[in-house]
Amino acid sequence: MTPAGDSFLETDRLTLRRFADADADAALLVDLDSDPEVIRYVGRSRLAAAEAYREHIRNRFLPLYVHPARGVFAAHERPGGAFVGWFIFRPASDYRFAAAAGWTRPTDVELGYRLRRAAWGRGLATEGSRALVALADADPGVTAVVAAALVPNRASTRVMEKCGLVRAREFRLPGFDDPSVMYARCKPGCDPPGG
Ligand SMILES: CC(C)(COP(=O)(O)OP(=O)(O)OC[C@H]1O[C@@H](n2cnc3c(N)ncnc32)[C@H](O)[C@@H]1OP(=O)(O)O)[C@@H](O)C(=O)NCCC(=O)NCCS
Repeated sequence: MTPAGDSFLETDRLTLRRFADADADAALLVDLDSDPEVIRYVGRSRLAAAEAYREHIRNRFLPLYVHPARGVFAAHERPGGAFVGWFIFRPASDYRFAAAAGWTRPTDVELGYRLRRAAWGRGLATEGSRALVALADADPGVTAVVAAALVPNRASTRVMEKCGLVRAREFRLPGFDDPSVMYARCKPGCDPPGG
């Protein structure tokens, strides 16, 4: 497939690019979120069809790109270009549950990822995440990289660990039975957000 948005960064095996309106038609996100294993620890998507994803891309993804190094980025394998999922790298205060997580510091950045099941277990989440963490390390305006997952989502927390984030504390999210855990990679002199 031809990627719709412009390229953001490349790793050995991945191209990360910005989403564009046209991605809604390609149904990449609908397909990704329709796998029960993919959404097992993140909750069912509130978006039902391509039109809802188009609105989501327009209203939630595109505004993030005003900052040249923030956003939700589609990940494609290279060579070949197969869509493998997405990475998120945005102001932590934009997280839907920022208040519950205590993510109010505007200089913290949230790391996240969601990959197609066929791509799991090959180190791709770690590879893409490490590239994003390296950007944060090099940016003096970033105080910390933070990430959160439900405690039983060990694949996710393992990726956090492998990217140099450290377990900070547990917290509760409304609507989820399991506790969540927050990991952080803080710049010198900074503490994890939320006490
Ligand atoms: C989380 C996710 C992105 C990981 O992607 P991935 O490309 O398979 O991750 P990697 O291969 O880079 O690393 C996964 C690590 O977790 C480990 N792991 C996977 N499942 C595990 C489990 N059930 N228990 C313990 N460790 C596990 C792997 O062994 C690997 O660690 P290792 O390299 O030390 O062996 C992927 O599983 C996914 O998209 N899940 C659905 C969406 C999701 O939950 N996103 C996170 C929301 S917080």
